Amino acid sequence: MSSELTYRGHESQPPSDAYFPKPPKPWLSVSSPVRYLLREQRFLFVLVGMAIATLFFTFAPRSSPAHISTVRHPNVFENPDPISYKSLQNYDRGAATGGGWAMTMNPGGKVPLGLKRKGLRIVVTGGAGFVGSHLVDRLIARGDSVIVVDNFFTGRKENVMHHFGNPRFELIRHDVVEPLLLEVDQIYHLACPASPVHYKFNPVKTIKTNVVGTLNMLGLAKRVGARFLLTSTSEVYGDPLQHPQVETYWGNVNPIGVRSCYDEGKRTAETLTMDYHRGANVEVRIARIFNTYGPRMCIDDGRVVSNFVAQALRKEPMTVYGDGKQTRSFQYVSDLVEGLMRLMEGEHVGPFNLGNPGEFTMLELAKVVQETIDPNARIEFRPNTEDDPHKRKPDISKAKELLGWEPTVPLRKGLPLMVSDFRTRIFGDHKDGVTSS
Ligand SMILES: NC(=O)c1ccc[n+]([C@@H]2O[C@H](COP(=O)([O-])OP(=O)(O)OC[C@H]3O[C@@H](n4cnc5c(N)ncnc54)[C@H](O)[C@@H]3O)[C@@H](O)[C@H]2O)c1
Repeated sequence: MSSELTYRGHESQPPSDAYFPKPPKPWLSVSSPVRYLLREQRFLFVLVGMAIATLFFTFAPRSSPAHISTVRHPNVFENPDPISYKSLQNYDRGAATGGGWAMTMNPGGKVPLGLKRKGLRIVVTGGAGFVGSHLVDRLIARGDSVIVVDNFFTGRKENVMHHFGNPRFELIRHDVVEPLLLEVDQIYHLACPASPVHYKFNPVKTIKTNVVGTLNMLGLAKRVGARFLLTSTSEVYGDPLQHPQVETYWGNVNPIGVRSCYDEGKRTAETLTMDYHRGANVEVRIARIFNTYGPRMCIDDGRVVSNFVAQALRKEPMTVYGDGKQTRSFQYVSDLVEGLMRLMEGEHVGPFNLGNPGEFTMLELAKVVQETIDPNARIEFRPNTEDDPHKRKPDISKAKELLGWEPTVPLRKGLPLMVSDFRTRIFGDHKDGVTSS
């Protein structure tokens, strides 16, 4: 059985050394690609394709800015607006410093004829916040292209939603503690929680935002040759021993208190700004902002004006800390925005105090709120908070002289605009018929 399975000796085997040459290919098989091409007018289609390609490469524009933009920072150049002249200068500088891309894409290195400068490209960090969103409104109205960079810690999309769909507006969710690369002409650096409730919530994050965030934005300004404006604060004067505060006053700040993450953070941000200016020739501006109020403020942010207004509207007692005799000055947001823009466009580095010198005690402020909202609104006294400064009033002579700026909206005019906005947001209606813009 097993031998039957293995033995094949009786089967006939083909001779192993037999040679069969390959039959020669007929001549026509070599020409089959040619025949394929000639069939069904394929050759005609090839010719037409070549003609179209020739026409395209002859007449297509060679150095349009859109080409340049796609190569460098795609996220910046989504905006179809013509880029500004200064941005183009930056492209050239990139090439000169070895970037190479500009020379490849724009061999002439010139602004193409007929490309008009249509406003600047501006980044506003913290642009979805209270002050930032009003600034964005003004910049867009002026004709600039604005990129808002915000992590929405205290800012809200609602504050800038009315610009959605505008090709000159872009919104990027981003934390300034992380680096960011954008091609812009100006940087308004506002990103930082501004009310004690918010900046004390995570003090380490607050100081990181002020130090690392400002470093990142200054690095960006240096890299792209943008002008940089820092929104510092009157808190750099701490609990001032000089009154009113002039820019030359160095302040009286507690470096280890609960407010230090903000006060010292902003002081360090000012230091960094000046060091980039002196050491790296970055064009910088520093604004020291005093208490500002207006529509779009966070409703429960613990700042005195928003507190009083929200409490009076909700028929709750207005909380006054301490004896209520500590003073503050209150600036309406449109005045601040005007000051920031003049500072950015002007020739002076600063620092400049931007605030309303009109001084009010907390009790006087509570009275104005009573007059505006509810004459029967009650006041409740509470112990004062730690490190709360006793007096704060800006000396704005420098801003008046060098920027030609001073506030124009008195508290009694600005407050009703804010009340109207708060009323709408708290109750969802518009009872007093006052507009908030
Ligand atoms: N409003 C005032 O009275 C006042 C006074 C002095 C200084 N300032 C300064 O002005 C600027 C704006 O203040 P505001 O009143 O509009 O405050 P705000 O809290 O309404 O706005 C700050 C914005 O920054 C954003 N932000 C915070 N941390 C961020 C981060 N790490 N990355 C990206 N975005 C971040 C927030 O989400 C918010 O949109 C702040 O720098 C503040 O210190 C304001």
